[in-house]
Amino acid sequence: MSTTYVRVSWNRQKRRYDTVVVAAVLAFVATFVACGLVLDPRATAETLLIRAFGACAFVLLHVVLAIGPLCRLDRRFLPLLYNRRHLGVVTFVVALAHGVFSAVQFHAFGDVSILVSLWSSNTRFDSLAHFPFQQLGFVALSVLFVMAATSHDFWLKTLSPRAWKTLHMGVYVAWALVVMHVAVGAFQTVVSPLLWGTLLVGTIGLAVLHGLAARAERRRDAAPQDASGTEIDVGPVESLPLDRGRTVVVRGERVALFRHAGGISAVSNVCRHQNGPLGEGRIIDGCITCPWHGYQYRPHDGTSPPPFTDRVPTYRVRVVDGRVRLDPRALPAGTPVPPAHVGVGR
Ligand code: HEM
Ligand code: FES
Repeated sequence: MSTTYVRVSWNRQKRRYDTVVVAAVLAFVATFVACGLVLDPRATAETLLIRAFGACAFVLLHVVLAIGPLCRLDRRFLPLLYNRRHLGVVTFVVALAHGVFSAVQFHAFGDVSILVSLWSSNTRFDSLAHFPFQQLGFVALSVLFVMAATSHDFWLKTLSPRAWKTLHMGVYVAWALVVMHVAVGAFQTVVSPLLWGTLLVGTIGLAVLHGLAARAERRRDAAPQDASGTEIDVGPVESLPLDRGRTVVVRGERVALFRHAGGISAVSNVCRHQNGPLGEGRIIDGCITCPWHGYQYRPHDGTSPPPFTDRVPTYRVRVVDGRVRLDPRALPAGTPVPPAHVGVGR
């Protein structure tokens, strides 16, 4: 049983990751401002900082959105996924710096409050050329705030993984609002072709990545299955890597199979934490370990080792003439199923 099983928490690796991210953000902002001073000597330091933080948040948001499809295309990107939530929070903080600087610069010196000024100084919602793009940025920032504020595991547990995940799909709403904020804003202010280029590359790049990842998953899902009878032939025992997962699709559901200690077990591929792909995980300390944040489940009953109580559905498996046969009917989460015996050493 694992003694190192902890829910998402701070560790040395995460601290190193965060240090690198903060250093990269500072380097980005410093480089942006330095280049701005050279290329546009009339721009004030405040304006350059506003633009630097905005551009940095924009890039970070695209990186956050690219990590998911990249991991579905190539498992080597998985370490990035492990800390994606931290990157999301950093994105919000950088966007907040941009939003606060902008609001102060453009709305703090009138005779109404900053928020009233932001929402009432431009109400030309009927004109693309004069559209109030700052309000779009404000709504995007509010969406990012909700996600950053609920990023902790406490909210995941409180809201339920399904509701939490749905809420966090709001990142795509934030992204669309930010793209409009930048595109419409660029119509109204003097901006460099670099900004248009970044906007275009970011949007097309994300669309292509998501398309490729979806196609790769469709191909995996469409892999031929022998569905004769109730059991499905998954292949020879040796097709399951030792102590690593393999994913098969049965009746539209992904099932994760593991060969460990002379037995074969099958559980649902969907991790209880954030729906991570268990089939891409490994056996660590005798437990199936999710590749995303390390949640663990015992192979024989799909239950987390004590004191944790998370459970995933299990499946019956048999080995017949050296071939693995899977009963596609999912059993209730946590149902014990004796591993199919494959013999010592296999
Ligand atoms: C309260 C929220 C926000 C306000 C008031 C705001 C305001 C502004 C303003 C006034 C500009 C034009 C700056 C200039 O050209 O001098 C701008 C540009 C920009 N904003 Fe925002 N914004 C907000 C939120 C956001 C968010 C959430 C993001 C991204 C995550 C973002 C990304 C950008 C980018 C990339 C630019 C273009 C920067 C450049 O010219 O290089 N903004 N914003
Ligand atoms: S541990 Fe987070 S999704 Fe599995």
